Amino acid sequence: MTLRAVVKGVGHYLPDRVVSNAELEARIETSDEWIRTRTGIERRHLVAEGQTTTDLATRAARAALADAGLEPDDIDTIIVATSTPDLTFPSTATMVQGELGMTRGFAFDVQAVCAGFIFALTNADGLIRSGQAKRVLVIGAETFSRLMDWEDRTTVVLFGDGAGALVLEAAEGERGILSSDLHSDGRFRDLLYVDGGTSTGKTGYLRMQGKEVFRHAVSKLAETAHTALDKAGLTADEVDWIVPHQANLRIISATAQKMGLPMEKVVVTVQDHGNTSAASIPLALSVGKARGQIKTGDVIVTEAIGGGLAWGSVVLRW
Ligand code: UT7
Repeated sequence: MTLRAVVKGVGHYLPDRVVSNAELEARIETSDEWIRTRTGIERRHLVAEGQTTTDLATRAARAALADAGLEPDDIDTIIVATSTPDLTFPSTATMVQGELGMTRGFAFDVQAVCAGFIFALTNADGLIRSGQAKRVLVIGAETFSRLMDWEDRTTVVLFGDGAGALVLEAAEGERGILSSDLHSDGRFRDLLYVDGGTSTGKTGYLRMQGKEVFRHAVSKLAETAHTALDKAGLTADEVDWIVPHQANLRIISATAQKMGLPMEKVVVTVQDHGNTSAASIPLALSVGKARGQIKTGDVIVTEAIGGGLAWGSVVLRW
């Protein structure tokens, strides 16, 4: 039997404040029609003043722990995928560890922007398979609203805040993470980046060449998903659900089409959350389970691309 990282619990948290496209219309030169037709987004959740990435991550973590029937000290490792840490350091993961009152184990962040959760899951899988951890809490948490330049209508309409979390546990059998496929290519750093950090002394704003990122997304996502499926020894017709990064409905549907799968097999949340970067996949997994779409034993393909560019796919049996 093979030791695998099996999903034991899932949960999410979204801030209370919901901002509709109509509300954005009142603030910037845009329209509900443009946002819906170009992206599929109808609304997004935004953090309140003072609410932090750590807050969102901790709430999602508590929900996933409750779903798993576990306490914080049952966890060996916390990995947080985020590009919006509250501070340069310590890591958001150690701050979540403190908030949860967890007094053992170790915690660290993974930063691969919108693909962060895919990279974090792969790290968790490695720790579990190598025997370094038995239970890993993997969280995607973001406050991208804090990176928005309200003068830039091409980005401000796209992003939202939120967090999602999975508890993974070492177990033998057929369930769990089956394969993963990771990539990055730093030649494309200028397509999607934040123009701040320690080099500027300011947090900075998100800058994106949307059309170019779109082009890379459509070509790279189906390819990485196919590679991950190959590694798992599965074909697309054995897939129950695609749970994609939720950036743009047009990218999501183009990828499903390239994989030869109908939209009925795709968990879509972009209309309600916008693009929540590393949080979008765990959010969609949690919402997909709550909707009754995702069930024990289902084969799920997750895929994402973002700044770096960094992209990849993880295949798991739920
Ligand atoms: O999660 C990380 C990965 N990121 C992504 O996956 C994002 C990938 N890119 C995209 O999703 C799309 O490229 C966007 C949604 C960002 C843009 O859609 P597009 O179809 O590529 O539009 P565009 O950038 O070519 O802009 C078309 C027009 C432009 O006007 P002109 O030059 O044709 O007159 C823009 O100025 O739409 C205009 N426009 C807007 N109009 C109303 C751009 N933003 C807006 C806006 N409201 N918010």
